[in-house]
Amino acid sequence: MKVAALFALLGASALVSGKPKKEPEPTTFNGVEVPPMTDLTPATYDDWLKSHTFVMVKHHSPYCPFCLDFAPTYQTAYEFYHTSTPKGSEESFSDFYDFKFGSINCIAYYDFCSERNVTTWPTTVLYRNGKFLDKVRGAKNMTIVTGTIEKALEEVKPGSRPANLVIPKAGDDHVDSAASASTEKTETAPAEEAAPKEKTEKEDTKEDTP
Ligand SMILES: *[C@@H]1O[C@H](CO)[C@@H](O)[C@H](O)[C@H]1NC(C)=O
Ligand SMILES: *[C@@H]1O[C@H](CO)[C@@H](O)[C@H](O)[C@H]1NC(C)=O
Repeated sequence: MKVAALFALLGASALVSGKPKKEPEPTTFNGVEVPPMTDLTPATYDDWLKSHTFVMVKHHSPYCPFCLDFAPTYQTAYEFYHTSTPKGSEESFSDFYDFKFGSINCIAYYDFCSERNVTTWPTTVLYRNGKFLDKVRGAKNMTIVTGTIEKALEEVKPGSRPANLVIPKAGDDHVDSAASASTEKTETAPAEEAAPKEKTEKEDTKEDTP
């Protein structure tokens, strides 16, 4: 693991030094533009926690294999929620729940992450009103990530979540959200069928220690 991580590190930094660093670009989900995810720094992290009801932060290394594994899952979850419309609301998801997604590079800000008790990556923490609420440790699948989010949303606004949430697969750029908006469609595929291509994962093993 250590050796693999080191190779990944050397390979990735060689690549980076050869090319100018590109600014992140917007993506699209369900045909809607999604801004690049907020990259937090020690200067912005605490302010963000103070100014939003929910903040989800992926603490990661740009090189660790499990972080790379988890990256599309977290990115797709962000795009999926960002473009979703809460039931019976005109507001966007972000406004309705005051929910923000971000990430922080724990190689660049190692001390900052460890002060927050994050020493294995990826670790995704969900804060509510600036306080720790829940976390997703390691490279978990979409079902686990959305399950963590759904539980928190249902607690803060009971009855606001679809009974049968249809979730995307990691890397997808769309999902049939009409299926989850309708309560009549009880034949909606269960989570297992909704993500058949996802790899089987072992609990709490897919993370790297520094
Ligand atoms: C980190 O853990 C220590 C010891 O358990 C605890 O006192 C401290 O509040 C934690 N810090 C954060 C930011 O969660
Ligand atoms: C997601 O991970 C959990 C726990 O590891 C597992 O029980 C579940 O079957 C997985 N779901 C999918 C769709 O892979």
